[in-house]
Amino acid sequence: MKTKFLGIAIIVSSAIFGLPALAADAESCAACHGKDGASTDAKVPIIGGMSAEYLKGAMAAYKAKERPCPEATYADGPKKGTKSDMCKIAGETSDADTAAISTALAGKKFVRAAGQKVDAALAAKGKDIHDKQCDKCHTEGGSVAGDDSGVLAGQYLGYLSAELKDFKDGKRPMPKKMQPKMEAVPAADLDALAHYYASFK
Ligand code: HEC
Ligand code: HEC
Repeated sequence: MKTKFLGIAIIVSSAIFGLPALAADAESCAACHGKDGASTDAKVPIIGGMSAEYLKGAMAAYKAKERPCPEATYADGPKKGTKSDMCKIAGETSDADTAAISTALAGKKFVRAAGQKVDAALAAKGKDIHDKQCDKCHTEGGSVAGDDSGVLAGQYLGYLSAELKDFKDGKRPMPKKMQPKMEAVPAADLDALAHYYASFK
């Protein structure tokens, strides 16, 4: 009898104490960002294969609410259908968990979005602007994770457009040296840049 109760007690307590750990592991990120951060949902950016440095920086910006936090819905997992946003999620994730998840994601491949429709003329125009203004930090079309400035090549078009607009409108902070380059790009040309990055297959 005694051992049976002890067994139940261990199961119950591990279920209770196991929950906070579960809430912050890579599985909970996968519910929206997909397996290994290779999102197949155009509303959610691909994050697997970015550098740990960049990922930690992005999480810190969300935690400090320095970046806009559009509402997002869990697409999978135990919280399926629940609404949240990256500021809440980053706020609920400890620095240690953020570091561990970032290192794990950095070891994965950045799997470029499949089947995106891009305008070839816009993409060509975007390449010209990129080569002049952006390639110094986002080398090879923004495809190199080691730049620590995010991976742009093959990211979802809608996400890219939204971020470029947020930078332009001063809603998302950017590095001091990126600012004059963004200012040199007319708002009407942001679409060309987004189409260029989305054109990487
Ligand atoms: C409910 C869905 C959802 C969950 C769960 C979620 N994310 Fe996100 N995440 C998003 C959306 C949507 C965005 C785009 C937000 C924006 O536009 O800034 C995003 C953006 C990000 C970005 C910024 C990407 C970039 O290129 O700058 C990072 C990093 C990130 N998430 C990491 C995580 C991590 C780590 C977890 C797990 C602890 C997680 N996310 C859980 C939906 C989610
Ligand atoms: C001086 C270096 C530098 C220059 C020049 C620069 N960037 Fe950046 N960029 C960065 C860094 C660093 C980040 C990461 C900032 C952060 O974490 O908030 C970034 C982030 C971004 C992001 C967000 C990526 C993501 O996953 O959310 C986009 C989009 C972007 N830059 C586009 C551009 C464009 C377009 C230009 C040229 C007009 C440009 N950048 C010029 C350094 C630069």
